[in-house]
Amino acid sequence: MPKNIIAANWKMNNDEYASKTLTYDFLKLLNGQNNHSTLKLLCVPYPYLSLIDNMCKGNESVKVGAQNCSSYERGAFTGEVSTEMLKSLGIEYVIIGHSERREFFSEDNKTLHDKVELSLANKITPIFCCGETLDVRNKGTHKDFVLSQLQETIYNLSADDFSKVIIAYEPIWAIGSGMTASVDDIQEMHSAIRSSIKTNYGSAISRNTSILYGGSVKPINAKDIFDLEDVNGGLIGGASLVANDFFDIVNSIS
Ligand code: PGA
Repeated sequence: MPKNIIAANWKMNNDEYASKTLTYDFLKLLNGQNNHSTLKLLCVPYPYLSLIDNMCKGNESVKVGAQNCSSYERGAFTGEVSTEMLKSLGIEYVIIGHSERREFFSEDNKTLHDKVELSLANKITPIFCCGETLDVRNKGTHKDFVLSQLQETIYNLSADDFSKVIIAYEPIWAIGSGMTASVDDIQEMHSAIRSSIKTNYGSAISRNTSILYGGSVKPINAKDIFDLEDVNGGLIGGASLVANDFFDIVNSIS
């Protein structure tokens, strides 16, 4: 069985005080809730990793992740943060290949592949993002596009390494736009991803891989999305910045 995961992607929002308040409010809402089978991940900006991680200690089902990492191991790379550094803070998860990184920071498949390898080498689980633009979707080549993103990156991993990866499908046109993909579109893509995993790594690994959906998930549409056969949770941007909304989304998965 794949693990159910709801991951918050705070992006570059909130100062330290607002980050603490958001975490405090969310943990307070969770208190007493016995939803331990779903992993809740808070992917926060680098400066708050330790702070938020310390706040979450004691709640087994809440973990903290980074939103990015360097594709280099160490050295003269001013401003970069290595997977080794994340590991030394006790961080176990990192988002890799978010469309905003691909688009605004020109991260290509080779760079992303290197990041995935480094994170796995440091025992950090990558949440690997893929997804098509509206242009590609309108041309009808979205499945080929997404599968080739995977082919050029994580499908190069050994079966052992691949089985540690979480995939997040995020159609770029649905991110932050308020336009969610339809449940049929989501299930179609998730099922295509799962069957391509089967082709590459066999049915056991394909059955056990968590495939998350991201792109304008809100309390109002979360349940319909999470109920889909091949969806194992979500990567939540905007709605993760409101404690009540994120809590409602967490409670929408069964
Ligand atoms: P959104 O962002 O929920 O605000 O659409 C999702 C993401 O970018 O991960």
